[in-house]
Parts: sequence; C-alpha cells; structure tokens
Amino acid sequence: MIVGLLGGGVIGAGWAARFALNGHDVRLYDPDPDAERKVGEVVANARRAMRKLVMPALPAEGSISVVGSPDDAAHGSRFIQESAPERLDVKRELLQRASRAAPAEVVIASSTSGLLPTSLQDGMSHPERFVVGHPFNPVYLLPLVEVCGGARTAPATVAAAADLYRGVGMQPLVLGKEIDGFVADRLLEALWREALWLVNDGVATAEEIDDAIRFGAGLRWSFMGTFLTYRIAGGEAGMRHFMEQFGPALKWPWTKLTDVPDLTDALLDRLVAQSDQQAGGRSIRALEVMRDDCLVAVMQGLRSAAPGGVAAGAVLDRYERQLFGATPAPPVDLDAPAPVVAHEVRVPAEWTDYNGHLNDSRYLRIASEACDRFLRLIGVDAQYLADGHSYYTAECHLAYAAAARGGDVVRATAQLLHHDPKRIHLFIALWRGGDQLATAELMLLHVDTAESRACAADPTVLSTLERLAAAHSALPTPRQAGRSVGQPKSI
Ligand SMILES: NC(=O)c1ccc[n+]([C@@H]2O[C@H](COP(=O)([O-])OP(=O)(O)OC[C@H]3O[C@@H](n4cnc5c(N)ncnc54)[C@H](O)[C@@H]3O)[C@@H](O)[C@H]2O)c1
Repeated sequence: MIVGLLGGGVIGAGWAARFALNGHDVRLYDPDPDAERKVGEVVANARRAMRKLVMPALPAEGSISVVGSPDDAAHGSRFIQESAPERLDVKRELLQRASRAAPAEVVIASSTSGLLPTSLQDGMSHPERFVVGHPFNPVYLLPLVEVCGGARTAPATVAAAADLYRGVGMQPLVLGKEIDGFVADRLLEALWREALWLVNDGVATAEEIDDAIRFGAGLRWSFMGTFLTYRIAGGEAGMRHFMEQFGPALKWPWTKLTDVPDLTDALLDRLVAQSDQQAGGRSIRALEVMRDDCLVAVMQGLRSAAPGGVAAGAVLDRYERQLFGATPAPPVDLDAPAPVVAHEVRVPAEWTDYNGHLNDSRYLRIASEACDRFLRLIGVDAQYLADGHSYYTAECHLAYAAAARGGDVVRATAQLLHHDPKRIHLFIALWRGGDQLATAELMLLHVDTAESRACAADPTVLSTLERLAAAHSALPTPRQAGRSVGQPKSI
C-alpha cells in the first residue's frame, strides 16, 4: 500500500519509518530542502531499533520517495498522514489541498497534538474521511496513537484509521469526545507546567526533576498508569481509601494548577543551561539511540512480565504474532527424505558481540524460531494455542561449530528424531551456505496449557508427525545428537 505523508520533521520522519518498516511505500512532501537527509537519519535509527525489538523478520521494507508537492504525495496513496507545524492555517491549507487530490475513500489523518478535528476538517473535500491520529515520539517505537474524529467524521473513518494503525504495530486509543490537547497531552502538560514552576522557583534543577520521575513514578506508569497505581496505594481498601487519605490534599493545593511561570529570558537561560549540563555533551542522535535502546528494553521486559505481555508489552506480543502470521512458512514437502527448512534470517549487526561474532544467545533465538515454525508446520497454529494446547521445551542442548557475523544469512533445518503422543525429539541445525554453524537438540512436551500438565497431542498433529517420521526415518542420526557437554568432537 502507498501512504502519503505531509511534513517530514520529527513526527513525519517517524511515520515514514513506521510505515516503510512495515512494508508500505511512502510518498513524503516537505518543503525543507534538507528533508531527505533528515528522514534518512531517522529511518536508519528506526531500522536499528525495530530489528532489536521484534523477533520475527519484518516484511520487505517499503520505499520512501520525497516528492515535490502535497498533490504528488496524495497521488496513488491509500492513506494520508499530515505532520506539518502545529499551525491551524498551515494544516488547513495542506489538508484541503490533499483532500482535493485524493479520492473520497482515502482516509486523511493529522498528527496534531491538540488542534480540534472539527476545526481542521473545515473546508476539506469529503471531510467525513478526516480524523486525528495523534502519535508519540518516537513514532516508530511508541505504540500509542490517539484517534479522534470531528463533528463531520464518519465512524467508518475512525475504525479504518484504527485498523491501519493496529496493522503497523500501534495501539489506537479511540477518543469519544474531542477536546483541546486530547487526553495524553493534557496530562503531560500538567506535569510539564509543574516542572517549570519547580525550576522557576529554584526548588529543583532539570536533572533533579527528571530523577524524581525516572527512579519512581515513571517506572510504574509504563505498565499501570495512574489510576491502577493509586488503587494499590490505597491498600486492601483500594480506591475509596486512597481518596479518603489523599483526596483532601488536593484542596490545599501543592501544585500551581493552571498558572504558568512567565517565560522570561532569565528562566529560559536557566532551563537551557541545566538541560545542557544534563545532556553532558551528548548529541541529539546519541540521546535518541539511548532512548530507543531503553524503550526496546522496557517493552521487551513488559512482554515477558506475564503471558501475553503487559501494556506496551501486550502490543508487542500481538504485533509479533501478526508478523509471524504474515510471513508465509516456507513450502515444505512433508514426504521428502530430508530435514525441513524451517527458518531463514539475516543476522542484524546488533546481534554481534565485541568479537564481531553472533552472540551465543542469538543461536538459541534462531533455533527457537525454527522450532516455532516447525510446530506451525505440524499444525500448532494460533487456533491450536487458543484451544489450550501447546508444546513446551523441556530440554535443549546447543553445540556451537562456527561463528556467524553481521549480515550472514543463517538457514535452520529441522529433523524429527523421534516422537510419541506426548513428546517430540527434534534436531535443528543452523547453516551458512553449506557450513554448519550450530546444532540444537530439543525435547518438546505436549501440554494442556490451562492445567499445565503433559497430555497427548491432537490426532491431526500426530498424523503429520507420522508422515514426517516416515520420511525422516531414512536419514542418518546426526553426529551431534545425544552428545554430552565436553565430549570429544570426533565421537
Ligand atoms: N514533536 C512531538 O513530540 C510531537 C508529538 C506528537 C504530535 N506532534 C505534532 O506533529 C506535527 C509535526 O510536529 P514535529 O514535531 O514533527 O514538527 P517539526 O518542526 O519537527 O516538523 C514539521 C515539518 O513540517 C515541514 N513543513 C513546514 N511547512 C510545511 C507544509 N506547508 N507542508 C508540509 N510540510 C511542511 C517542516 O519543514 C518540518 O520538516 C505537529 O502538529 C505536532 O503538534 C508532535
């Protein structure tokens, strides 16, 4: 699909990365002559971060063409996202122009942080296809997008935009009511205003204020937000007790509410100096890389915190399942007397260690992906899992033979050594061309996931295993099968 983007600054470039890395071709208009370079830098950062974030292969990357006018960007696009400066006149003109250039069924969204959709859609041709899709920086990593229609927006437009955003790994939050600043920015602004007061009044420095968030509340916010956190803070009596205890304090009040400090030169100088000291000479690009690495770590942590993940971890989990489902399993002849090719991956540079070699944990990751694909091949698909059955890995023996490097294409083959109704004994080999890189010998146990106990697999899974077993019975037992740690290689 082609996506048209209007504006390629911080947010527009983030959208370009999110769409292109999810396989969509992008046509981007930005009057800045330097836009192509800036977008390219953001996309390079995004590529690196996304490869770190997700386990399955991303789809083939879409192209990004920087075009000369908004009409060019709209041409042939099935969806348009505007991310021009936050000025009503600039946005209206662009949206009106794009709406005249794009057929009526093309949804047009705006990234505005706070302008009202009813006001933005004024004067557009077919305003019913307009919606706000308010993302968060970096757009390629943060899942949240607030989706908000105006008075003339059709409900189908809101649904279509939400579906499209979900398809590129995001979490749409559909707002029932338009309001200046939407929901997230109103919350952020309240905190930001208070932070400025604290600097203005000389109570705390920029760094101390950031510490107050990042060592405490910031950690909780990423998985529970505010309300659920405070419910727990109320102890066993929950929210009612919490409100009784801390509710009256709201009337004292501690905070400055809607007052804003005067943005005098003295306050700006103090803020800039404190911010410079905090950055410690690190460039914006270096800070972005650190930010992206930390976001990846947090989201991966939230995915593993509970089955199916928590908060942004649940979105990541759903997105990875989507990616797995979208990658067609390689065609396999179940009756061929050869190990099946279960997986192929190009080693990203970030998977290598200080020796330039594929880090040892990544061999297991590739073997584990190959094992997942083998299971899908024999019928353990999303429905099978939803029905309460799966295979769990009971044992794994990894043997390393040669080093892989960044950029190498690694192919994984799977040979069925043995099976019975409850178990699969599987042998996976990783190859670079004809060179064997590693082998993994696995024992998988079929389980009833609700009861967490072993049980017999479904008859259709077993009959596929029978077919594979018949084909693989002619294969020699691999030399490494059954080895113990430290055994001489000649054995
Ligand atoms: N920066 C954020 O954290 C953030 C977060 C969410 C939403 N937003 C919203 O996204 C939008 C863009 O913000 P940004 O931070 O990317 O700003 P930015 O200044 O980084 O980028 C704006 C881009 O628009 C280009 N531009 C100027 N006039 C244009 C025109 N007529 N047509 C097309 N492009 C034009 C500029 O050259 C620039 O590259 C704003 O509406 C903002 O409120 C920003």
